[in-house]
Amino acid sequence: MDHFAYRDNILHAEGVNIEHLAEAVGTPLYVYSAATFVEHFERLRSAFASLSPTICYAVKSCDNLHLLRLLADRGAGMDVVSGGELVRAREAGCPMDRVVYAGVGKTNAEIELALDEGIGYFNIESEAEFENISRIAAARGQVGRAALRINPDVDPKTAHAKTTTGKKESKFGVDIDRARRFFETYGRDKHLKLCALHLHIGSPVYEVEPYVHAIERALGLIADLRDAGLRVEAIDIGGGFGADYQTDQTPAYVEYASKIVPLLEPFVGEGGRVLLEPGRTLSANSGILVTRVQYIKTGGSRTFAIIDSGMHHLIRPTLYESWHFIWPVSPEAHHVPEQRVPEMGMDGLETYDVVGPICETGDYLALGRALPPLKRGDLLAVFSAGAYAKVMSSNYNSMPRPVEVMVDGDRATIIRRRETFDDLLGPEREAIAVEASLL
Ligand code: LLP
Repeated sequence: MDHFAYRDNILHAEGVNIEHLAEAVGTPLYVYSAATFVEHFERLRSAFASLSPTICYAVKSCDNLHLLRLLADRGAGMDVVSGGELVRAREAGCPMDRVVYAGVGKTNAEIELALDEGIGYFNIESEAEFENISRIAAARGQVGRAALRINPDVDPKTAHAKTTTGKKESKFGVDIDRARRFFETYGRDKHLKLCALHLHIGSPVYEVEPYVHAIERALGLIADLRDAGLRVEAIDIGGGFGADYQTDQTPAYVEYASKIVPLLEPFVGEGGRVLLEPGRTLSANSGILVTRVQYIKTGGSRTFAIIDSGMHHLIRPTLYESWHFIWPVSPEAHHVPEQRVPEMGMDGLETYDVVGPICETGDYLALGRALPPLKRGDLLAVFSAGAYAKVMSSNYNSMPRPVEVMVDGDRATIIRRRETFDDLLGPEREAIAVEASLL
């Protein structure tokens, strides 16, 4: 479900005509729908309501402050993976005790920042990391709280190997057998209270069963630890819920919840706390990328639609072979889409490689895609570009990043201005000599 729809043959974000918006702010641009973002959050919350979970939005999926504020205002926590994301969560007004901090490579400076802010839990990835955080907390006379990230060793059946994380061979967390020893060794530490479990099995996970298996394993571990006199007060089941890159691709929240909630209700009944870390499922369909066709070109048997966007604004197609629905913003009446699927079943389509201006063969958003006939100047919308799009963008080829616009009803607000050439050159113009004594 989202609020991007064709009205009078023109794509709208809520009440805003995308053609008019592109004229007003230029292309390329990311457009977010506030109503979609908020509705996703509220639906997820209501599906899991009987667990009263803390929903820690995964900032990494889409990190614009103005979007973070929408969720923080509604009581969301934040899942962060760096000092930069922590600062974003703070600036968005998220109470720090609702922040969880994951990541395998936390630096001392980041750890000190998180201790000073008093975050909810450090999600711990290794023994070495636990010892380092405990040592820093002790030296500063502080006490932190920690969740051990476990690898439940389930196959999340994600679309791509690069986003599978919950298996034994992954760099994240520790496997379940090691987790028992971990709690025995560190479970009574005074400076870093090890009191929760964390898991994240992959992204996206389009089935419920991998969660069921992972949570069953985690609950088994919690019971064993209780027998050994070690109490686990919270379980964070991570993120990974799917998003509709194609129409109706992912289970509804109530379907995920129907299997997950009954498993966790007894734990909550005994005073346990549940956390979720959804990112993509909230943000992916809350955003689109709008780009203009610059040129049409043929090469051998292929026809290229060369656009003013590409891998530098959405790297997912070339990095993960992922599929995003792409369609003209103002198609002819008989080409207005009723669904977003690979086989559109329409007459009069032509086949294009939708490629960008970057000097890389991998700079494409779609290959061999059936689209209505395109010409120079046409606007294209790339759907499901709210998650892992802008956040993974780059300035490669010295391309300034696009403007970000948030639509709320009939109102559009620029929530990040388009970057300029001065933005690119500024840090280099400030060249600073390094003191000879430091060399
Ligand atoms: N929690 C942890 C510990 C994670 O590592 C992630 C994502 C999430 C939560 C949020 O997952 P989500 O709910 O968004 O699926 N760039 C890739 C996805 C990388 C996901 C990394 N971790 C993509 O574009 O598909």
